Amino acid sequence: MPPIHALRVCALVLSGAWATGWGSDALAAAGDERTSSLRAYRIVGDSIPQPLSELSPDPVRGRAIVADRQSGMCLLCHSGPFPEERSQGDLAPSLDGAGARWSAGQLRLRIVDSRRIVADSLMPSYYRNDGLARVAPSWAGKPVLDAAQVEDVVAFLATLRGAANPPASPAQGPAAPGAATQERR
Ligand code: HEC
Repeated sequence: MPPIHALRVCALVLSGAWATGWGSDALAAAGDERTSSLRAYRIVGDSIPQPLSELSPDPVRGRAIVADRQSGMCLLCHSGPFPEERSQGDLAPSLDGAGARWSAGQLRLRIVDSRRIVADSLMPSYYRNDGLARVAPSWAGKPVLDAAQVEDVVAFLATLRGAANPPASPAQGPAAPGAATQERR
């Protein structure tokens, strides 16, 4: 039996969940019963400038979600600075440097509903619960991530500034002479 995360990503990818897109209203409706558990958000250009949640985001929790094989599943498709993760995806660009390439608002829309950016994106819409077909019953009517989790992921991605980014674990032993020291940005 294939691992559960693979089943879930197949369910998402096959569901045609992201069929709407550019044509629909830029202000997500929060009123109707299918979307009532989602916060309303406003899309401006290719971004959602305002956070979805007023809780302070936690990049450490965000990192855990991104690396998690049950909820985030990001590493099924993406790679990134996760030295502890042996298997990482190659279907999508590395997440390394995402925080330098994109603003927080652009990252937020990408996570919320990537089909707003790339109409036929493989990437699941993590904060949608409408228009879903063939979703496992336990997932029906629920976004994959809740508003606070989306913000945690955005906060984590914003820290990924590129290959020069220091690794998550502290350097072992004294640095060799001339070795780059850890930079704070
Ligand atoms: C099923 C595959 C898949 C999964 C799972 C997935 N993505 Fe993606 N992602 C993509 C693809 C493919 C792209 C490239 C653009 C496109 O086609 O949408 C992308 C693009 C991105 C980008 C923009 C990359 C860049 O710099 O150009 C970010 C950031 C991103 N994804 C973050 C995430 C995060 C965070 C998760 C987990 C919460 C995730 N993705 C899960 C497939 C995936």
